[in-house]
Amino acid sequence: MAKLIDGRAIAEKVYVDLCREIAELKEKDVTPGLAVVLVGDDPASRAYVRSKDKMCRELGLHSLKLELPASTTQTELLSRVEELNADSAIHGILVQSPPPAHIDETAIVRALDPRKDVDGFHPENVAKLVLDDSSGFVPCTPLGVQRLLIESKININGAHVVVLGRSMIVGKPLALLLMQKNEKANATVTVVHSRSRDLAEITRTADIIISAIGRAGFVQADHVREGAVVIDVGINRVEDAASERGYRLVGDVAFDEVSKKASAITPVPGGVGPMTIAMLISNTVKAARQLL
Ligand code: GUN
Repeated sequence: MAKLIDGRAIAEKVYVDLCREIAELKEKDVTPGLAVVLVGDDPASRAYVRSKDKMCRELGLHSLKLELPASTTQTELLSRVEELNADSAIHGILVQSPPPAHIDETAIVRALDPRKDVDGFHPENVAKLVLDDSSGFVPCTPLGVQRLLIESKININGAHVVVLGRSMIVGKPLALLLMQKNEKANATVTVVHSRSRDLAEITRTADIIISAIGRAGFVQADHVREGAVVIDVGINRVEDAASERGYRLVGDVAFDEVSKKASAITPVPGGVGPMTIAMLISNTVKAARQLL
């Protein structure tokens, strides 16, 4: 049976370190400030935004939650971003994705001050990730996955990591992060995706499988080598009549069968999820320090 990687416990440890850094900044009269912008009323996005706001407040950060109607125009949203860029009390800005269809998300991301882009989506930060320039911001979920592996004492150096999925939020930045030339990375990275041939043959050669493909139960026992480490980034809704909400959240990994083969595995929920918000706070603290 696999060892369970407890994302909540590891995130708590991260918060203890962050509290110390926040206290140091406050001694210099700086309170790190995060602005989260939500356009429209997608229920899942609202829930994420609420939990980010709550965590900021618990840690004593300045938190600004901007909830704009779905009718907000591109021009209006751009001018809100400009205001936040110019606001010296705000060090990090996050525009919740996905926005309504009439919003050009790429243009919004490019309008962010890259020094406040705590999501790491701005082209300047993407370039810094490619260039191994540690002054940039790395997207929160990849950063959280790397930290989970390190804190769980799983060796990344020289390991064969297979990433499932090539999104700009998870797969692609995660592959870049883990192949960087430093002691927290140095992995041999393979990326597979929806069009990959012989996918299971490739994942069976992995020391570490990281799934961010967004399909419930996609990773099965025959994808996994005995003793591999399995990290599940997926958050998928599946119908569940027994649940009050009518659905439950599951990962990309068929947990019951894969946990019998893996040496370590993350649950959903309680694995990668809690780490993502911890890394958002970490990026905000970094932004405040770099903007000093
Ligand atoms: N929606 C889902 N994940 C993310 C994220 O990491 N950042 C933003 N801005 N939106 C998201």
